[in-house]
Amino acid sequence: MTRSPAGPPVTMPAPALSYEGLDLLPAPVLLLDGDLAIVHVNPSAEVLIESSLRAVRGHPVSQFLAGGGDWDVFLIEALAGRWGSHTRELSLSPHGREAVPVSCTVTPVDAAPARLLVELRPLDQQRRIERDERLQEQSDANRELIRNLAHEIKNPLGGIRGAAQLLEGELPDASLREYTQVIIKESDRLRSLMDRMLAPHRPPNISEFNIHEVLERVRSLIAAEFPQRVLVIRDYDASLPDLRGDKERLIQAVLNIARNAAEALCASDTPDARILLLTRVARNVIILKQRYRLALELHVQDNGPGIPESIRERMFYPLVSGRAGGSGLGLTLAQTFIAQHHGSIECASRPGETRFTILLPLP
Ligand SMILES: Nc1ncnc2c1ncn2[C@@H]1O[C@H](COP(=O)(O)OP(=O)(O)OP(=O)(O)O)[C@@H](O)[C@H]1O
Ligand SMILES: [Mg+2]
Repeated sequence: MTRSPAGPPVTMPAPALSYEGLDLLPAPVLLLDGDLAIVHVNPSAEVLIESSLRAVRGHPVSQFLAGGGDWDVFLIEALAGRWGSHTRELSLSPHGREAVPVSCTVTPVDAAPARLLVELRPLDQQRRIERDERLQEQSDANRELIRNLAHEIKNPLGGIRGAAQLLEGELPDASLREYTQVIIKESDRLRSLMDRMLAPHRPPNISEFNIHEVLERVRSLIAAEFPQRVLVIRDYDASLPDLRGDKERLIQAVLNIARNAAEALCASDTPDARILLLTRVARNVIILKQRYRLALELHVQDNGPGIPESIRERMFYPLVSGRAGGSGLGLTLAQTFIAQHHGSIECASRPGETRFTILLPLP
């Protein structure tokens, strides 16, 4: 309530709560009236309570809750404006099925008529978000450390190589060149490793292109690198719209994943070795906490031996490799390049089937 300068009190209308705004939220949200009946549920909440808005509008919210007493007290107190916004862990039981633990945050949004905004988050999802955030922070810190280290290692390398070359020119005996050549070759190897570590920090080169151009490049590169040993199968959704991004980086990301698959298939001598490249449109997906109406889902799948158990949890970390001669940077770079496109990358692996799934938002 507020007062005009000279006159009687004026009641300010509460700002209208936009249902469209609620519908865009990635978190499941319900709007309740003063009798705790459902006024609105957003699409995420429809999924969580396994019912459509049409079916639940006007129904008491208690139909979907478990351990009713706790909920009633909690919601009635919230409605009475006991606290501003408040969170509690409770259970949800859609259609009387097994209860799901949820973190529930209630916020009174209007006084007359009273309405209550209820945000629900399944606790396992909440924990997954917290775990992802922790992992993200950890890998950001790792990357920063590695970038600094790469700079420090790269700087003196030029000097070491140059000095070895000068020394080589002064050697009295040609047979001693074997040693200077070791210094030069190892400096070159280290330099190219450091260049790969520093690559993601160069500015991107943005253009519009179709993901299938990327996949066709990867397919021809794999065919050239592993001739007659690996069959690349395509299952493309031709209706996919164009992407905006850095094409070369996406080629590099997918190539790193497909090359790992081809290497694992060849090293294990898998009969009938196959890599599947599959694209589909995904609707209404959440990628890194953000909801997108449209996304590209890309699978790179092989029928090889699977990711070694010992590195499965850490395979996206830099310098983690399960094969002799591997530098352990391929997946780190792939993840960085996909994250630069606001996408995500996940992997499910068992002997006989390894699948990397990439999700990329589409305009
Ligand atoms: N499809 C796959 N099948 C089996 N193992 C895999 C697969 N993809 C990845 N791996 C395992 O994950 C490890 C890490 O892969 P990553 O590409 O990051 O490094 P790398 O291949 O060892 O080295 P490089 O930097 O040259 O790519 C691999 O060494 C391999 O053991
Ligand atoms: Mg690799």
